[in-house]
Amino acid sequence: MAKPHSSNPSIAFYKKWLLMILALFSVSTLIVLVLRATSDSCNDRRYDKYHYISKDSLSPSQIPTASNAVSPLNFMKSKLVFLVSHELSLSGGPLLLMELAFLLRGVGAEVVWITHQKPMEPNEVIYNLEHKMLDRGVQVLSSKGQKAIDTALKADLVILNTAVAGKWLDAVLKDNVPRVLPKVLWWIHEMRGHYFKLEYVKHLPYVAGAMIDSHTTAEYWKNRTKERLGIKMPETYVVHLGNSKELMEVAENSVAKRVLREHVREFLGVRNEDLLFAIINSVSRGKGQDLFLRSFHESLQLIKEKKLQVPPMHAVIVGSDMSSQTKFETELRSFVVEKRIQDRVHFINKTLTVSPYLASIDVLVQNSQARGECFGRITIEAMAFQLPVLGTAAGGTMEIVLNETTGLLHPVGKEGVLPLARNIVKLATHVERRLTMGKKGYEKVKERFLEHHMSERIALVLKDMLKKGNDS
Ligand SMILES: *[C@@H]1O[C@H](CO)[C@@H](O)[C@H](O)[C@H]1NC(C)=O
Ligand SMILES: *[C@@H]1O[C@H](CO)[C@@H](O)[C@H](O)[C@H]1NC(C)=O
Ligand SMILES: *[C@@H]1O[C@H](CO)[C@@H](O)[C@H](O)[C@H]1NC(C)=O
Repeated sequence: MAKPHSSNPSIAFYKKWLLMILALFSVSTLIVLVLRATSDSCNDRRYDKYHYISKDSLSPSQIPTASNAVSPLNFMKSKLVFLVSHELSLSGGPLLLMELAFLLRGVGAEVVWITHQKPMEPNEVIYNLEHKMLDRGVQVLSSKGQKAIDTALKADLVILNTAVAGKWLDAVLKDNVPRVLPKVLWWIHEMRGHYFKLEYVKHLPYVAGAMIDSHTTAEYWKNRTKERLGIKMPETYVVHLGNSKELMEVAENSVAKRVLREHVREFLGVRNEDLLFAIINSVSRGKGQDLFLRSFHESLQLIKEKKLQVPPMHAVIVGSDMSSQTKFETELRSFVVEKRIQDRVHFINKTLTVSPYLASIDVLVQNSQARGECFGRITIEAMAFQLPVLGTAAGGTMEIVLNETTGLLHPVGKEGVLPLARNIVKLATHVERRLTMGKKGYEKVKERFLEHHMSERIALVLKDMLKKGNDS
């Protein structure tokens, strides 16, 4: 519970944060958090992308109202936008599209949503998400009916979300495909080989544009479509993501952060002065939790050898899912036992609510391997909480983290284990530097990674799309 000395916050305020804390310990287990470990997005199922819309960020406050009548998306008012999602789940791609749906609804656009792949049996997650959309005035149609075809033909803009959504075009539109392509914006969030299939993307060269989350991913698509498939990318726009308003609200509220920090630390059994290094990503080899634990262990050794004076350090792994990554998780846990660091390593189940963890840790580790993240939204979320980032020098992370300024970069793979260990020690021993990096990160977020920045970037793309649609 909040301490009496905290600066006179209102009852409503506490209610909200109590709800949030409850969300952390109970609601998060209620929401079906079973996120399949393999799906769209960069390397693996992306934990960092599915919490865009957390339980609280779906609250009515999310919907832009008259108070932000200056939304850069205002020109979309009364436009008909047709959104094609390949699936509906609590994963990165669909949630991001929903976020856009709400932004567009907020400026008075008419928004129609279809989900191409739905399981036959009733599904609680789909039911809840569809109702959230209906509550906010998004129309939800069956993906295969005549109504979907008519709406697509009539729409001012059609947004296909992720490469796999391309399957919908031929399957449903059939002969109408050529009439719809000139007004299609294809939003791509993945960077994995098996998406480079003509079956999914053969219409890509003929759509009005592609929107991709980072320069690295855009380059990768350009290269792969050409070299693997012999097709050409359409005009491609790189749109970096932004933080939701809800996340910023918590991040900028010192009382809320303190309350959350106390609770989470109590829950973990760590003290206020202990140092917490956390990785917040679905547990999988692609996200590099194994290498992180090795670095963490190495850093403890370095500290012992050099007899450095630092507070007790802990590694927190948020995103555990024993049911889907059993082998990998077992490996992680065996390592922890073998190295006798059980009291220093904490595993936390997957959750949509990341704010409490961001509020309670000291450093975010972004250890995604191979080509790295497409973007890695958790990185900008952590920066909003004034946390320095220890990240791999790969993918979207390179476009967010300024080496030595807002964080420290290390190489991917085994070569990165020792550099990351040294960076952990650096941040543990240089308190001032750590705090300064966190502040610099926050400034960068304020400059470039807020919701309204993302809206501005998307607005530029949509304007171009409408223009092209009209010209054709
Ligand atoms: C495309 O990728 C291949 C191998 O992955 C690489 O050799 C080539 O230089 C890349 N081309 C461009 C234009 O980046
Ligand atoms: C975490 O998930 C596992 C199943 O994967 C479950 O058995 C366990 O109770 C969960 N822990 C918490 C604290 O919810
Ligand atoms: C980050 O900065 C350090 C120190 O200047 C340097 O050694 C390292 O190579 C840099 N890493 C990247 C990826 O730029």
